[in-house]
Amino acid sequence: MIDDEKYMRMCFALAKQGLGNVSPNPLVGCVVLDKEGDIVSKGYHSKYGENHAERDALMRVKYDDTVGGTLYVNLEPCSHYGKTPPCADLIIERGIARVVIGMRDINPLVDSVSKFKEAGIKVDFVLEEEAKFLNRAFIKNMTQKLPYVVIKTACTMDGKVAVNSGDSKWITSPESRAEVRRMRNEFDCIMTSSNTVIADNPSMKHRFKCVLDKDLKTDKDAQIYQQGKIYIASKENTTIKDGQLDLKSLLLDLYSKGICSIFVECGGTLAGALVRDGLADEVYQFIAPKIMNDNSAISCFNGDKIGRISLCRNFDIYKVKQIGPDVLIKYKRKTN
Ligand SMILES: NC(=O)c1ccc[n+]([C@@H]2O[C@H](COP(=O)([O-])OP(=O)(O)OC[C@H]3O[C@@H](n4cnc5c(N)ncnc54)[C@H](OP(=O)(O)O)[C@@H]3O)[C@@H](O)[C@H]2O)c1
Repeated sequence: MIDDEKYMRMCFALAKQGLGNVSPNPLVGCVVLDKEGDIVSKGYHSKYGENHAERDALMRVKYDDTVGGTLYVNLEPCSHYGKTPPCADLIIERGIARVVIGMRDINPLVDSVSKFKEAGIKVDFVLEEEAKFLNRAFIKNMTQKLPYVVIKTACTMDGKVAVNSGDSKWITSPESRAEVRRMRNEFDCIMTSSNTVIADNPSMKHRFKCVLDKDLKTDKDAQIYQQGKIYIASKENTTIKDGQLDLKSLLLDLYSKGICSIFVECGGTLAGALVRDGLADEVYQFIAPKIMNDNSAISCFNGDKIGRISLCRNFDIYKVKQIGPDVLIKYKRKTN
């Protein structure tokens, strides 16, 4: 009895190796078994423009090893000509007998499932919800034409990100800050605000950075501007709504420039506005074991007074990890 879930989980792990390098493409991994049920190849989509996972895996094995075999892939193989020829055709040519898929492609023009069935290949699905979760950013990009937005916040046990003067160095440990530097690579863009640039003068090393600075008040010699490609969102290039930069139209603009995912590192004002406008998909919250005990300090999420708990924004926790003395909690916004 072949353990389909085990091999699909292997595909997920392979797919994740492409994180940060494949956008605007999805994360895809592939495992190939021969007719005896032994693994003969593995592959993944490593970089935009390079081979898809199925091609990567199939190009590493001889025809004899794939005939009658099973191919696992977390996303329905492509059936149309894009940057590379259709993977579905290659799978058929290589004599694969069964294809196990995580999720169907959300582009209705992709239909390799029918193609496989016509070619006499058995098709099964497994771990669909997990496969969709893995490619949640891709699904949002395709369906909403917006980047996937993750807010990072480093706070105390009482939810504060800086003291009233703006000092925030350092709330969390060196281990947590190293983790943040590593996480940045998984995103197409780092976003921050004029206030944070002025208060912290961070460098936030990354290939593409967006600074929200409506009135161009930040110093052009600030460290953030010394490296990477910079996009300053100001009243010169961004729609204004209620006296502030319109965050939704900025996100649409960034998406049109090829930005599919954004890691936001800011204080409570911008983070609160993103949450209020329903534009934050996830929060990565690093909590340090400290209590600031100061009502005048800056909170993780600022906003207007609400009258009822039922008006809270709801999230699901999907990961909790201790990092040095701190805790990292990853939350995903509930959509209903
Ligand atoms: N612990 C942490 O994780 C962490 C991370 C970063 C920063 N910080 C700290 O946070 C403090 C800054 O927090 P903050 O709350 O003052 O500022 P913030 O949230 O970083 O940024 C607020 C600024 O964002 C801009 N913005 C653009 N569009 C907006 C919109 N629609 N709604 C709201 N803001 C919009 C505005 O600047 P413009 O008008 O110029 O566009 C606004 O003043 C600093 O002391 C910093 O040290 C802590």
